[in-house]
Parts: sequence; structure tokens; C-alpha cells
Amino acid sequence: MLVNFIEMLQEAKQEKYAVPHLNINDLEWTKYILEKCNQLQIPVILGVSEGAAKYMGGFHAITGMVKGLMKDLNITIPVCLHVDHGSCKENCLKAIDAGFTSVMIDASRYELEENIRITKEVVEYAHERGVSVEAEVGHIGGAEDNIVSTISNATLEDCLTLYNNTGIDSIAPALGSVHGFYKGEPNLDFETMKEISDNLPIPLVLHGGTGIPDDKIKKAISCGICKININTELQSVWSKAVREYLEENKNVYDPRKIIGSGEQAIKTRIEEIVTLFGTKR
Ligand code: 13P
Repeated sequence: MLVNFIEMLQEAKQEKYAVPHLNINDLEWTKYILEKCNQLQIPVILGVSEGAAKYMGGFHAITGMVKGLMKDLNITIPVCLHVDHGSCKENCLKAIDAGFTSVMIDASRYELEENIRITKEVVEYAHERGVSVEAEVGHIGGAEDNIVSTISNATLEDCLTLYNNTGIDSIAPALGSVHGFYKGEPNLDFETMKEISDNLPIPLVLHGGTGIPDDKIKKAISCGICKININTELQSVWSKAVREYLEENKNVYDPRKIIGSGEQAIKTRIEEIVTLFGTKR
């Protein structure tokens, strides 16, 4: 069933586990993720960045692909189709019109007032259509931010202001995590994470899940994180497997064999990830 994330994340918040947000890049990845999560009978959020949407042909191509796969593969788990880091209102609305069940509007590069204005407009359009909305406060950077400390962290006050003025359904506060591989040890602000979780009725999202040590993932979940975004890690295990396959099979040219040689690596890693997250149906 294609759903928004509201029910799945509320359950996760109550029962203290995290739902995986796994970024998709093509038909094969989507198929592997759906098959594995369906086998494990756990909910999943399929994250689609704007770059990945463009790569796959556009939002309509993706909703058609996901709906078709779910039907043909008899997928019975709740699946949320979510725009990851929607950069503007127009793109979020386009995805909603194409059938996405959830969007992240990332206006975190603006001042809070402007972030609120843009987010509110997306929420109004989305909620009228049963679509959930995530927003970001502070700024979650790339791995380079991990060492040059240009990260601007979120505060409880800013999170409350954004929530109260927009009615968003989940919030991604920047608290030290970054996208991509970490340079050094991730430095997460668990105290503020718990403070925000205790004072906001909506679930908290952790971006930059790749490379955070297991004990810190567990601590983040205990501090209120209900959705954890993973992208780089699946890309990394897939490319390693494909590279090895190509080294060992120099004469192969069938793209199905080449792309498919990464299937097991993705599926194995997903199982490890959701075991760590404690994800339940
Ligand atoms: P990673 O690529 O670090 O796993 O982060 C993914 C993410 O946060 C997508 O929004």
C-alpha cells in the first residue's frame, strides 16, 4: 500500500524504533528494497532526491514504476514514496500531483521566517491531498562540514517556531550529522535531540545515516529519532560488489547481470540496517 508516513512514524515514536528511509536510484534498487522489506514485513520510506528523480525520468515515471512493482511483486507492507530535500515549492507540488505520498521541503538555506513561509505553502497543498510533509531546521551539510565546523545546528526554539507556524508532520533538525561518509567521528548533539523530541508532538528525522556508529544510532533512537535516512551506504556496498563482479567477469556485457551483481549486497545491508533500527511492522 502506498501511504504517507504519518501512521508509520507515529507508531515508531511510540514504540521507540526507526523506520528506514532508503534512497532509490533506479528500477533495480527500488525492486531490491521492496522485495527485502516485504520479506522482512517492515514499513519503508523510498526517498527520491531531485537529482535521482531527474535521472529516472521524472516524478511520473517514478510513481508509475513504484506502483507497478508493488502490484507485480505483491508487496503488502506500507510503502511511503517521499521527495528527499525538495528544494522549492514547485518541485514538491509537481511530485504530489504525480502521486508521491510524502515530501520534504528543504528551505533550510533561508532564514527561519522564509523557511516558514515556503514550508507553510507546501503543507497547505499537501495536507489537502493526504500527503505528509517533512521540513529541516538548521542546516545539514555534506561531509566537508564535519571538519570545518560550518554546520549550523537547530535549536528547540526554532523547531517549535517552525512546527507551530506550519503544521509539518516531521522535522529534521540539524544536530551534527552530515551527508556522505564522515571524516572522523560524527558529533551528534543528543541533548538537544531529546529536548526537541520531548517538546514537539511530531517525529524526528536523522539525515546522514551512513557511517554513524551503531551505538550512536541506538542512542539517537532512544532520544526520539523515528526515521533514519540512508543513501551513501547502499551506493557504496552496491558499487563494491559490482566492481568485484566486473573484475572477475571481464567478458560479461549483459546489463542485467552487471547491475544485478549488486543485489545481494544491498539486500544484506538493508537487513543489517533495519535490525539495528529495531524496525517493526
Ligand atoms: P547519507 O548519504 O549520508 O546516508 O545520507 C542520506 C540522507 O540523509 C538523505 O537525505
